[in-house]
Formats: sequence, structure tokens, C-alpha cells
Amino acid sequence: MTFVGLALLFFLSCSKSGTDEPANPCEGLTIVVNGTVTNTAGPGSTTGSIAATAKGGSGFTFSLNNGPFQASGTFSNLAAGTHTIRAKNSDGCIGSGSFTVSDGDPCAGKTISVTVDVSSSEKCGKTGTITVTASGSTGFTYRLNASGTYQASNNFTGLEPGNYTVYAKDAAGCETTKAATVGAVANGPLFTAVVTLINSKCSGCHTGTNPTSGISLGTDCAIVEKKNSIKSQAVDLETMPKGGPALSAADKKVITDWITAGGKTSD
Ligand code: HEC
Repeated sequence: MTFVGLALLFFLSCSKSGTDEPANPCEGLTIVVNGTVTNTAGPGSTTGSIAATAKGGSGFTFSLNNGPFQASGTFSNLAAGTHTIRAKNSDGCIGSGSFTVSDGDPCAGKTISVTVDVSSSEKCGKTGTITVTASGSTGFTYRLNASGTYQASNNFTGLEPGNYTVYAKDAAGCETTKAATVGAVANGPLFTAVVTLINSKCSGCHTGTNPTSGISLGTDCAIVEKKNSIKSQAVDLETMPKGGPALSAADKKVITDWITAGGKTSD
């Protein structure tokens, strides 16, 4: 039995090696391709790379995405995506590996800082300005508030008093914000005198939340808005205060002095 078994074994191995076909050196050989991926600098960038090495033989050459084989296993200038690297050993045996290059965060490692230079606005006008200075990157554009549109100029004019959010964005889209408050210019002496006059001579009918005339002169901006009408009714025509008596010359002068100076709250 033992003899027969050996003979059979000999026969099998003999018949196998006895053919003219050369042994396939790749049969049963697994070539493993490993790679170290470097992501791109950000969306749209092609600075990704893969450094591949292979196991399962020697004398490897490498091919990227079915391109030509080259000695180096490092492939650079890659966009984000999945890339296939094939490795071929000196016997022509090939293995492959898939590697995903991702887009890196273009804002990582950047510190963008924003400062604002604000000038106040006329209380009932739009004369405020904000000038933005951004540093820590390049290619900045700017906008005011989330609803604003990015612009190249770092200067915003024609602003009414209020709170704003300033946005600065660099060329890669990295955004930084900064709060800015446009203050109101303080009331000037001429306007203050007009407010005092209206509160004493026109009150009841024009002041308070529900003036009996239906016309409010109870806020600074309402007075500014109606200044020409105030002058014509109370100074020129003497139709106000309604029912009389007409304003004194000194009271009229309070109104005309203010309007002549410009009729602004800051006058
Ligand atoms: C007794 C109530 C009363 C007093 C006091 C009074 N007004 Fe009037 N005013 C009215 C009424 C009512 C009207 C609406 C028009 C009308 O009836 O003539 C009016 C209208 C006006 C208007 C026109 C508003 C517009 O839409 O253009 C002005 C300006 C005005 N008043 C200014 C004054 C000023 C300034 C004073 C104080 C110096 C004054 N009024 C005092 C009752 C009053």
C-alpha cells in the first residue's frame, strides 16, 4: 500500500512538471499595495498625493489609474477622489490598491483676524461708516451682515445707527466675523431746544404714544422728518399750535435757527 501511494505521488508530480508549460510565477502570489495618502489643500486643489509601497516580490514599478508604470510609487498633484495604484514586480505579477484622496480644510492653521474702524451716523440719517481691516490671509472680500453681498472694498458707507456683523472672507473661502456698532451722533444744542419747545407747546396733540392729532412729533426722527412742515405751520402760517396762541418770536427763532443750521439732530 505504501509503495502504491508513493508511486501515485510520483506520477502526479511528474505529470505536472513534465509538461512544457512554464510555471506561472504569479500563481498563488498576492501582491499587497499599501499607500500613504496626503489630502489636498482644499476643494478644487490638486495638491494631494499617494506614496505607495508593495509587498510580494521585488523590483516593483507602479502605475496610477492605468497610466504607465514608473519606478517611483509616489504620485503627486492629485485631485480629491479615489485613485487606483497598480504595482508590478520583476516577474510581471500585478496587484492593486484603491486610495481615497480627500479635500483638506483650507482654513486649518489659519488665524484670520478682523478689526473695524467705525464712525457714527446722524441719528435720523445714514451717514455712518465701517472700515474693515483683515489680516492672516490674502484675497479678502467683505460684506455687512449675513444678508449682504461680498465686495472687494473694505469700506461701507451710508449706514444708519445700529448693530452690524462684518464678514471677511479670504480667497479660499475662510470666513471670519466681527461685531460692529454704528453709534448715533449726540443731539446738538439747536435741536435740543426744538425738542424742548415741542414738548411744551405742542404736547398732548403731537406727543405721547397716541397723539390726538394723529400726527406724532414725539420722537427725534419724527421731528426731523416733519421739519419743513413744522416751520410752515408754526412759523410762517401760524396755524400751529392749533387754536393758538401763535408762537412767540423767540420760539419761532428756535425753530428757524435749527432749520437754517441744517435741521439735523446733531445741529
Ligand atoms: C390743540 C392741539 C394741537 C396743538 C397744541 C398743536 N397741534 Fe399741530 N396739529 C393738530 C392737528 C389736529 C393737526 C392735523 C391737521 C389739522 O387739523 O389742522 C395738526 C397738524 C400739524 C402739522 C402738520 C403735520 C403734517 O403731516 O405735515 C404740523 C407740522 C403741526 N401740527 C405742528 C405743530 C407744532 C409745531 C405745534 C406746537 C408748536 C403744534 N402742531 C401744536 C393739533 C395740534
